[in-house]
Amino acid sequence: MYCLGIESTAHTFGCGIVSFDGKILVNERAVYTSPDKGMIPEEVRKHHLENADKVINNAMQKAKLSWKEISLISFSQGPGLSPSLIVGKNKAIELAKEHDKPIIGINHCVAHLTIGNLVSGFKDPVYLYVSGVNTQIVALQNKRFRVFGETLDIGLGNALDKFGRNAGLGFPAGPKMEELAKKGKYVEFPYSVKGMDVSFSGMVNKAQQLLKTEKIEDVCCGFQETAFAMLCEIAERALAYTGKKELLLIGGVAANKRLNEMLGMMCEARGIKYKIVPMEYTGDQGVMISWQGLLEFKAGRKDNLEVDIRPYERTDDVDVIW
Ligand code: ATP
Ligand code: FE2
Repeated sequence: MYCLGIESTAHTFGCGIVSFDGKILVNERAVYTSPDKGMIPEEVRKHHLENADKVINNAMQKAKLSWKEISLISFSQGPGLSPSLIVGKNKAIELAKEHDKPIIGINHCVAHLTIGNLVSGFKDPVYLYVSGVNTQIVALQNKRFRVFGETLDIGLGNALDKFGRNAGLGFPAGPKMEELAKKGKYVEFPYSVKGMDVSFSGMVNKAQQLLKTEKIEDVCCGFQETAFAMLCEIAERALAYTGKKELLLIGGVAANKRLNEMLGMMCEARGIKYKIVPMEYTGDQGVMISWQGLLEFKAGRKDNLEVDIRPYERTDDVDVIW
């Protein structure tokens, strides 16, 4: 038995197929890109409409499955851009009707967390989620995923990209800054941690000022060392507070080797198991939607064909019933 999951919250239209016992078969996607990396909702909607059938058909073909073998259709209900969410929802309803399958709408952010458990084998970690937009510390407590800490302004990925754009590094700047930082020496940056929250916009301003007097390699080194130390501090605090024994790093910034080294050292010193979600499953994709659909379906939930999108649903709105 298999679930076909559809992702369409933002730039990615994805389709993933996973078996009921957690075997991942395919992860197909088409990603909307624009030269300035902005997202015009109407353009994204058009992109998804144009690519939906192709992505789903490719997934079915690569999985070598017939529709008889699909037992469930899941889709991203939110949070996200309404015009693109609607494309995924309509496609899911259309397929559920056509092939007479149960349907389930799920929360995209929760799926980012639970796919991490599937691919890492972790049961109950503290999640450090560091992507473009998001910088969050999340953990399960009393049957909800609670956001224990987050950025008070911009996500770390966006902060790196913002500095990089001004410094002429192009987009995305994270990987380029990582390379430059290896050749640099530390310069001081403002360190901004409040409880389990962090803030990065002051660092972007500081980095721009420093560029006038310091080498770019040194600015990148100081920026990274400071931002990553802040993440280590809030992760350590969340681990101490929750008493959990696993730390899972999610999001595009997880590609950074220095961040991994620093988190690894912190975890080793505390006797905490530490893993990173592989890049294939850390960005937006259909596999995580499929797996989350399965978890909730197996726990007894399903929707009817009148199911709608939930563009503003938060991670901690979802009852963890699985
Ligand atoms: P969302 O918008 O949902 O938060 P996203 O698509 O913006 O997600 P991801 O694809 O998870 O984000 O991550 C992209 C970010 O990761 C970019 O900001 C990029 O600069 C950053 N990044 C990628 N590789 C590295 C690296 N090696 N070091 C630091 N940052 C990196
Ligand atoms: Fe996402």
